[in-house]
Amino acid sequence: MTASRLGATPDGAQDTASAAVAVQQMFDEIAPRYDFLNHVLSAGIDRVWWRRAAKTFDAILRRPESNVLDLCCGTGDMTAALLERRPANGAAITAVDFSHNMIERGRVKLAGEPVNFIEADALHLPFTNASQDLVVSAFGFRNLADYEAGLREIRRVLRPGGEMGILDFGEPEGFIGDAYRFYFRRILPRIGAALSGSGGAYAYLPRSVERFPKPQAMCTLMRDAGFADAAWTPYLFGVAGLFRGRAD
Ligand SMILES: C[S@@+](CC[C@H](N)C(=O)[O-])C[C@H]1O[C@@H](n2cnc3c(N)ncnc32)[C@H](O)[C@@H]1O
Repeated sequence: MTASRLGATPDGAQDTASAAVAVQQMFDEIAPRYDFLNHVLSAGIDRVWWRRAAKTFDAILRRPESNVLDLCCGTGDMTAALLERRPANGAAITAVDFSHNMIERGRVKLAGEPVNFIEADALHLPFTNASQDLVVSAFGFRNLADYEAGLREIRRVLRPGGEMGILDFGEPEGFIGDAYRFYFRRILPRIGAALSGSGGAYAYLPRSVERFPKPQAMCTLMRDAGFADAAWTPYLFGVAGLFRGRAD
């Protein structure tokens, strides 16, 4: 593995390709228990975060003609929060994920809703340049095998002036940070392993958050990829946060 690669590195991954395969297999494996575990481990706060992130992009979401992409949509909870803000005559939201089992659950949960689910890799999106008005990714971008390539791909599909939002976990500082790290590193992996039957996935989660670029570094990556007004808004003292940027 190249030391300089900025991206998810699950155990055993040698390079970008093997990291992506490991991530895909992990989500395929935990898909049946994913929603239940999400809500238990976050005590339901994830729902508040999805809605808060969606509200940020209200102006774009309210325009019927906006093309909206939920990247790494998983079982569709961020998609559902985006849908709540779409007008009745709004164009369908596109929801992309490369885990067949995750996206199949999304299809069932959002059956009858104006959503086009597409199985695809976020690093090779099947969309033309400048075709999207908004790209949002919740707790998914961190899992990409190459963050710089991921940002470039988001930038490629956004129209100039289009916006992107990346919602993900952070690492708060001070006393809250200590308590959070204890929970995240010691408690969460055990509950996750016991309830999901997959020890690997919930040990990988805190490690991937630790490895993820800190807000300032991530904003620099965003600017380098062609985003203006790169900014981060902490949620719950920085336990999570929303990165925003506008395609230059
Ligand atoms: C933690 S889940 C988040 C799902 C959903 N957005 C949510 O907020 O609950 C991360 C998702 O990212 C997807 N993912 C990771 N890397 C991906 C890639 N390169 N292309 C497409 N999807 C990817 C996984 O399959 C998984 O469904």
